[in-house]
Amino acid sequence: RFAAALAGPLESVSSGDIMRRPLVAGNWKMNGTVTSVDALVTGLVSADSPSCELLVCPPSVFLAQVRAGLSVAGHEEEIGLGAQDVSQHESGAFTGENSADMLVEFGCRYVLIGHSERRQYHGESDEAVAAKVERCLAVGLRPIVCIGETLEQRRNGSMLAIIAQQLGALAQTVAREDWGRFDIAYEPVWAIGTGESASPEQAQEVHAMVRSTITDHGDSEDCTRILYGGSVNDDNAKALFEMADIDGALVGGASLNVQSFISIAESAG
Ligand code: 13P
Repeated sequence: RFAAALAGPLESVSSGDIMRRPLVAGNWKMNGTVTSVDALVTGLVSADSPSCELLVCPPSVFLAQVRAGLSVAGHEEEIGLGAQDVSQHESGAFTGENSADMLVEFGCRYVLIGHSERRQYHGESDEAVAAKVERCLAVGLRPIVCIGETLEQRRNGSMLAIIAQQLGALAQTVAREDWGRFDIAYEPVWAIGTGESASPEQAQEVHAMVRSTITDHGDSEDCTRILYGGSVNDDNAKALFEMADIDGALVGGASLNVQSFISIAESAG
């Protein structure tokens, strides 16, 4: 009965549909209650649909609730569902983890991988991130791979080397033809949750470098979006989206407020 109510997997996102269509994704992090999640989903399905792609990434215990809320409103195609992390393993004795297959069965099309909070608090390495990406690609789940430097790395001049290293681990693992089957989120660690966003020019510098890495490693650079994340709000979003290589945003705090999230999405055009 629950399986029928859940409605099962959705068709996976095809690279051909991407063509750098702007994506605005909300990372709800570890926030919410059953009641607040209901209110957020109700608000999102009641808002006018922006022309960019919208995605919400709730904590995994709320995935079924959000999926059901979107389905009931007939919005499961317009507002995508993503998870905040995934196991690199297929199944088995990995207490506390969720497999890529499970996320697909619960209607996820996307998953965040390698968020700086996972790297910082859970010791996630570039190699583990790459292994997770591979696992997702095997089941048709589209990863959003998070990269970014700390303030110290920016100050000591190693920023671009760190970004290259984070992308390098992907290049070691992911086949050339699969570099169009994931998106990237550049999130400078110093801008996350601090209220201090990178300036559009600071973000663009890194995005341009990421874009050229994607062009070097893959055949289909137009199928990979590069999102910016870190204190994005309805005041600063528009100027960020005007940059040539910023294809959307990964929004934390502001995604918990329907008005702010929708207004960010509207400025993505
Ligand atoms: P804030 O928007 O709260 O700074 O969070 C950014 C982030 O980490 C999104 O993944």
